[in-house]
Amino acid sequence: MAARTVRLLVNGASRAVAAQPARPLLGVLRDELDLTGAKYGCGEGQCGACTVLVDGKATRSCVTTVGDAAGKAVTTIEGVARGKQLHPLQTAFIESGAMQCGYCVPGVIVAALGLLKKNADPSESEIRSALRGNICRCGTYPRIVQAVRSAAAAMHKGGKP
Ligand code: FES
Ligand code: FES
Repeated sequence: MAARTVRLLVNGASRAVAAQPARPLLGVLRDELDLTGAKYGCGEGQCGACTVLVDGKATRSCVTTVGDAAGKAVTTIEGVARGKQLHPLQTAFIESGAMQCGYCVPGVIVAALGLLKKNADPSESEIRSALRGNICRCGTYPRIVQAVRSAAAAMHKGGKP
């Protein structure tokens, strides 16, 4: 299939890329747009390392084609911070020590952001359910849940996700 120009709204900026529509969004983000925060883990939609938001919904970018994302708003981990100010989720992950190797963290934070956009005060079970598709091989799940709860509490005080 021939490449064509695909337009995306990535982290608030309009971007045009020449790509085959069937190409995975993850590869376009990483290789064409230099957004390497979303990670390649399994490549099969199973691990969550590649999670981005597409129109606000947590999405596996390894199994989403760039053609399917055309014209939509894509948020990667690079677009989560508020300018130079870390997002409360990022601050909470640091303060909670919710990482070891860090490979899963971009996907986990983006997935958590998708949750908090829908549910500003999730219970522990709702957090676990929302993040069940994000595998952390280092096993930091308890601290991840704690970090999301802390971020939700901070956002209650300081504004919307
Ligand atoms: S790399 Fe996409 S779900 Fe694993
Ligand atoms: S911190 Fe290593 S995979 Fe999650």
